[in-house]
Amino acid sequence: MAAMRVGMLTGGGDCPGLNAVIRAVVRKGIDHYGHAIVGFRDGWSGPLNGVSQELTIENTRGILHRGGTILGTSRTNPFKESGGAEKIKETLEANRIDCLIPIGGEDTLGVASKLSKDGLNIVGVPKTIDNDLSGTDYTFGFDTAVNIATEAIDRLHTTAESHNRIIVVEVMGRHAGWIAVHSGIAGGADIVLIPERPFQLDEIVNHLKHRHARGRSFSIVVVAEGASPAKGEMETQTDEVDAFGHARLGGIGNALAHELEKRTGFETRATILGHIQRGGTPTAFDRVLATRFGIAAIDAANDGKFGKMVALKGTNIDLIDLEEAVAKPKTVDDDLYAVAEAFFG
Ligand code: F6P
Repeated sequence: MAAMRVGMLTGGGDCPGLNAVIRAVVRKGIDHYGHAIVGFRDGWSGPLNGVSQELTIENTRGILHRGGTILGTSRTNPFKESGGAEKIKETLEANRIDCLIPIGGEDTLGVASKLSKDGLNIVGVPKTIDNDLSGTDYTFGFDTAVNIATEAIDRLHTTAESHNRIIVVEVMGRHAGWIAVHSGIAGGADIVLIPERPFQLDEIVNHLKHRHARGRSFSIVVVAEGASPAKGEMETQTDEVDAFGHARLGGIGNALAHELEKRTGFETRATILGHIQRGGTPTAFDRVLATRFGIAAIDAANDGKFGKMVALKGTNIDLIDLEEAVAKPKTVDDDLYAVAEAFFG
């Protein structure tokens, strides 16, 4: 294909591995295809407000292992701005962009899918530490987050044991409990609570009492930030919402710790891992997956395969319809949860 001008942006929550995608797109796009790569700043805010920078091999060197994103990110929703989609089209035309590669989760790629239906040439790259995007077995960033959470659980184990305490560990996971289940299994959690399964406080209390009656004097409870009790008897979110209407979460860990201490009589503490799970250097797995996604995305752009998202299927990288990827979140399946459940109590 003749030389193209390819735009790129990173949207939504940042995620270890974003820079590895950027580097891969730039390296193969320029070196192999002779395309020009333009980076838009701060998610959809960049094309909305016309803020961009030329990406070169030189200015994307040394970023493979770096967390965050050199392009910046935001949760800007252009469909919330009057004439937002039109402004984006104008910016892309003014920059003579032939194809845009947005790297993001359900919100960023949801916008991408709408713009693609409106006729823009788009190839999406899936990113989220939550691993909740449909159509791909894994998103990069997830493995890093799970490793960080697992290490935290290991550390909390020793202090919980020394003090005979229950420790509640709150991990990220708004709609899906992938991080909670994986880190819970890897870290040997005694209870794992996820958004897909509203929990019964009485059941948890029974599990913990049973465990302590069997001679254990401490417990680790992993809870995803989006988990909630079945009867809705605890406050778990603030009133604040972002541009995509998502509530700002955070609070279930403390609320649960309070309830568990009250109902079990065991001293309890809560630890909220928060943004530590998204920061810092990506694991080797995430660097490889992000690099493969970047290469597949620039290949698809070069081949004119638009309206698609690159995806991991088994061990292969595939192209799937963007629409399919954002149709519904990918939630934790019962079989995987049953593995965690085998160790409850
Ligand atoms: O990007 C996903 C995520 O990390 C969720 O797990 C979490 O709920 C949310 O982002 C937090 O968003 P913010 O960084 O805007 O506080």
